[in-house]
Amino acid sequence: MKYFIVGGIIVVIIVGVVVFAGNTKNTGGNAQTVPITESGKTYTLADVSTHAVEGNCWTVVRGKVFDISTFTSKHSGGPGILKGCGIDSTQIFEKRPNGTPHPEKSWGVLQTYLIGSLK
Ligand code: HEM
Repeated sequence: MKYFIVGGIIVVIIVGVVVFAGNTKNTGGNAQTVPITESGKTYTLADVSTHAVEGNCWTVVRGKVFDISTFTSKHSGGPGILKGCGIDSTQIFEKRPNGTPHPEKSWGVLQTYLIGSLK
């Protein structure tokens, strides 16, 4: 009986480790692997800079332009995202203040706000 209990605990630990490893594998955000769709329109950084406030917020990440006006209030990282309005926020997006990149799923979310490329 004792062996069954010990065996059971070992199985639970192994399953836990496998599940945990599986979950952590995709975080860390290897952004390079996430495709960003091309749209036909191009904008200059000067165009982007005229959308620099909450409610009218465009940003640039890796040469692509995003209209994140409706997203900033939903941002799970809080209002810090507003620092990226009207500018090229690639550095902020890739490092964040704590030095860690956004998780890979964030690139997918960002992509839904794509409006064009930087000229
Ligand atoms: C400046 C440009 C930025 C852009 C375009 C941006 C964009 C995004 C996007 C698209 C997401 C995914 C949201 C979702 O999964 O629904 C996200 C998540 C997040 N962002 Fe940002 N962000 C920016 C700046 C920042 C900054 C400055 C911080 C830190 C203060 C930050 C912290 C976070 C955190 C903690 C999350 C949640 C990540 C998770 O679910 O594990 N972000 N951001």
